[in-house]
Amino acid sequence: MNYAIETAPLDSLKYDCLILGVYQDLQLSATTHSINISTKGLINTIVSRGDINGKNGETVLINAIPDNPIERILLVGLGENKPLTSKNYRKALLAAINSLKKTNIKSILCCLADVEVIDANQQWKTRQIIEVFNDAIYQFTAYKSNKEITSKIEKIGIFSPEAELISTQLGLNQGRAIADGMNLTKLLGDLPGNICTPSYLAEQAFELGKKYPSIDISILEENDMEKLNMGAFLSVSRGSRQPAKLITLNYQGGKKDDKPIVLIGKGLTFDAGGISLKQAPGMDEMKYDMCGGATVIGSFLAAVQMQLPLNIIGLIPSSENMPDGDANKPGDILTSMSGKTIEVLNTDAEGRLLLCDTLTYAERFNPDVVIDMATLTGACLVALGRIPSGLLGNNDTLCNDLLTAAEMSNDSLWRLPLWEEYHEQLKSNFADLANVGGKDAGTITAACFLSQFAENFHWAHLDIAGTAWRTGTNKGATGRPVPLICQYLINRTYG
Ligand code: BES
Ligand code: MN
Ligand code: ZN
Repeated sequence: MNYAIETAPLDSLKYDCLILGVYQDLQLSATTHSINISTKGLINTIVSRGDINGKNGETVLINAIPDNPIERILLVGLGENKPLTSKNYRKALLAAINSLKKTNIKSILCCLADVEVIDANQQWKTRQIIEVFNDAIYQFTAYKSNKEITSKIEKIGIFSPEAELISTQLGLNQGRAIADGMNLTKLLGDLPGNICTPSYLAEQAFELGKKYPSIDISILEENDMEKLNMGAFLSVSRGSRQPAKLITLNYQGGKKDDKPIVLIGKGLTFDAGGISLKQAPGMDEMKYDMCGGATVIGSFLAAVQMQLPLNIIGLIPSSENMPDGDANKPGDILTSMSGKTIEVLNTDAEGRLLLCDTLTYAERFNPDVVIDMATLTGACLVALGRIPSGLLGNNDTLCNDLLTAAEMSNDSLWRLPLWEEYHEQLKSNFADLANVGGKDAGTITAACFLSQFAENFHWAHLDIAGTAWRTGTNKGATGRPVPLICQYLINRTYG
């Protein structure tokens, strides 16, 4: 995608289509008003005919502008003429791009950065335009013979007043980095399990390291993990023919002595459940069980592009969870790297087995904070649906920082408690703890399990089972929580 910021008069610019906002009750945004004058009242004519009444998300395409070099105009309804909520602003942007992405239009100029949005500045609005447009344009066509279906849009322009140029530029830089990160995360999530294996994920990390020398990549193979006594992690990969990998990404953008932010992402490239096999309907979707890991990779891409002055470590424990003669069996007892023993009551609760050893491993980086992201529990979907990710953690400052970042990035979170009463559910008759805590409060008990391996640092856990993926006819990866993680990193830099 090409991007440009435009400050010159609108009718001197060469774009296939301008995107202009109109409010309810025939009111025009400032930029739309100026175009109305230069087109001798064309916009007013269209609006007063009732072809668009300005409700949020309505669109009308005007594809011929008499006596004017402008090729086309898309009018977008903004709703009432008062500052928009951030959600309504994004809704209007989404409506605009959705109505243009299926046309032959190649270049679009968005003139919606002048719209007033509550608590938002030019930088934020520019970023949202880039993020929302890119999100809508993304399509996974790698395995489609007919590539015609891809969007033709090649160039996105942002119209900015001269006085706001610097903040438009900042917004564009951040928006582009986050959009690129989301695209990579979505691509990895959409790739099928026969292509995107643990080895493939490791290769993708290597590719990123080749392209950006400021990221160092290293891989722990199964024999390395054996030496570290990662008995919980390895018990899961024993059931798969694909070798497991623990991928480490290391970005040292900060000062030498700055403690790193450690990002951990669950990387199950396919979760069949193991011996506690999942049911057949919808099992294909379990290729997205690596979206936590993909979020780490996407966030690293965004972080280097933004050249954030932070030290960040990424850890991606990656494996398949398959039924096999050598797979975990219910009742098996494992010894984790921490020394704690775990009774496997359900082999489908495999994510926490990978993550617990990775959390113990994270201690050696002397982390400032550790944030793990995992498609960990179906229970999270039951509790929260697909709107917010679940947030649990052992440190209020970290959790509050994440909640703030979630609000700013429109990538929402909802915190759940980690009270000690819930730990009761993980008691085992035979080992230090069981890997499942019964049917009640599944998201919480999963996090309780992890918390026992995160006692030595500030830690937060994001359950992204509901938010990393869209289900139904439009199924596919969402790229979340890349915007949230990037916002957190940006806030850590400037906040
Ligand atoms: N990867 C799944 C969780 C999941 C389910 C993610 C649905 C996305 C959509 C995880 O490994 C799992 O199987 N969890 C079990 C835990 C249970 C056995 C305690 C679950 O949620 O059913
Ligand atoms: Mn599972
Ligand atoms: Zn899983």
